[in-house]
Amino acid sequence: MIRSQSTSDSVTSEKNIKNRLQVQRLLEPGLIISSSFGSDAVKGLTQIPKTLPPRYFYDDRGSELFEQICALPEYYLTRTETEILQKCAGEIVRITGACEIVELGSGSSTKTRILLNAYQQQGLPLHYLPVDVSAGMLEKSAIQLLVDYPSLQIHALAGTYELALSQLQPSQLSNRMICFLGSSLGNLNPQECDVFLSEIVAALQVGEYFLLGIDLQKPKPILEAAYNDAQGITAAFNLNVLEHLNRRFGGNFDLQQFTHWAFYNESEHQIEMHLKSRRSQTVELAAVQLQIDFAPGETIRTEISRKFHLDVMQQQLKAKGLVPQKIWTDQKRWFGLLLCQLQGT
Ligand SMILES: C[S@@+](CC[C@H](N)C(=O)[O-])C[C@H]1O[C@@H](n2cnc3c(N)ncnc32)[C@H](O)[C@@H]1O
Repeated sequence: MIRSQSTSDSVTSEKNIKNRLQVQRLLEPGLIISSSFGSDAVKGLTQIPKTLPPRYFYDDRGSELFEQICALPEYYLTRTETEILQKCAGEIVRITGACEIVELGSGSSTKTRILLNAYQQQGLPLHYLPVDVSAGMLEKSAIQLLVDYPSLQIHALAGTYELALSQLQPSQLSNRMICFLGSSLGNLNPQECDVFLSEIVAALQVGEYFLLGIDLQKPKPILEAAYNDAQGITAAFNLNVLEHLNRRFGGNFDLQQFTHWAFYNESEHQIEMHLKSRRSQTVELAAVQLQIDFAPGETIRTEISRKFHLDVMQQQLKAKGLVPQKIWTDQKRWFGLLLCQLQGT
């Protein structure tokens, strides 16, 4: 609900906000009931080992739980990236000048406010295109931003990164910056990461920018604590995937029969998050006509979260033509933020 002082103010401000907000659903309901409905979940759950794409974390409840995770003492990622952004936002604005901000996986857009503040302070126009599969969170955050930034224009895209990147129209401002924060790049395996970076390049013109936040390699106990918090919020977030599947695909997962398991796979430099079956069981997802057998202790891997090395990432980006202009880290070098510019070939 949009806050304001009186009924007539409220009508004016609701109208004003509607004029500045466009929401585009990239996954139309018609499309969801198509043959591709749930195909990624079916594929993951029928392979060995079983996996699921991390986007199934993010129904409304999952998005709320993720917000709680961001505030946990063990989850250093959000805190550290916020601290870096606060330090360097002014410099980002000086380098890019006026630009349309596209944010992939925008969630609550909390960190984005640091960037919006910096562009606003320089008197630059504010055009923001948040992209997220969690449509509820996307719209809620967009409305709150429009209340707080009276000159902001938002074109929200509800759908996946891939769909959004392939459907972006040319920027209405002279420049575009695509932001991918929160180390969400770490959720992609190396092959997916390569494809994703090519999609970023295809969505930019030469001279435009890519702002990337990545979690860096660090001692195992710090990493494992971040994904096994004492309050059990991460466990609830992980188990909520099953609730989401039940609702979306007519499933009968019993959440009591699975446990959260997260560990650092040192050879792959990645946190792996799994749901482990407590016993032998068969689960059905009626809407996609799937029966899934679990052996005792068998897992579904729900997420990888790769931990990066700054030099290696720089080389990988450069190989795609995304040349880092400036790199910032925190004092402990736990997290990295890279501002890259697309160079011509
Ligand atoms: C780890 S959260 C990061 C949120 C925010 N960017 C931050 O840094 O705190 C990932 C966000 O990306 C969204 N998301 C996950 N997979 C996605 C996909 N394939 N396409 C679009 N959005 C996705 C989720 O709904 C969630 O809001």
